[in-house]
Amino acid sequence: MKVLVLHGPNLNLLGRRDPGVYGTKSLDQINEEIEALASQLGLEVEFFQSNQEGVLIERIQKAAESYDWIVFNPGAFTHYSYALRDAVAAAGVPTIEVHLSNIQAREEFRSRSVIAPVCAGQISGFGAASYFLALYAIFERAAGQTGGI
Ligand code: DQA
Repeated sequence: MKVLVLHGPNLNLLGRRDPGVYGTKSLDQINEEIEALASQLGLEVEFFQSNQEGVLIERIQKAAESYDWIVFNPGAFTHYSYALRDAVAAAGVPTIEVHLSNIQAREEFRSRSVIAPVCAGQISGFGAASYFLALYAIFERAAGQTGGI
């Protein structure tokens, strides 16, 4: 199973950005932890971060060629990017939306995701563990498909 872990805008600032909300781990640290868990679960992961909507769209469009799953934190695009929603829907690659913070427990505008309805599911509020939970979900689905545990 090949998984693309896609980080949207401002996530490159993790560690310095609003640590009370997003924690103190940098994006590199989080990626290392995702990588470590992925190898335990037998998943292959690749990482990509962009602050630009069009660049993320192009990455999603190409994902069908090389990936079985996408784990996607769309950052603030979550709340208004119909273009990213359409890209996820068109790509045909099952996608899990993740958020470090609990988007339901913050400002009103964050409580709505325009992308989640075209995703396999959404995990929100567990810091870096939101990404880990997404990997577990993929592992479980893969195991289910092959008749394993
Ligand atoms: C976020 C939540 C978004 O509302 C915010 O704009 C982000 C990060 C999260 O991971 O909690 O940039 O996606």
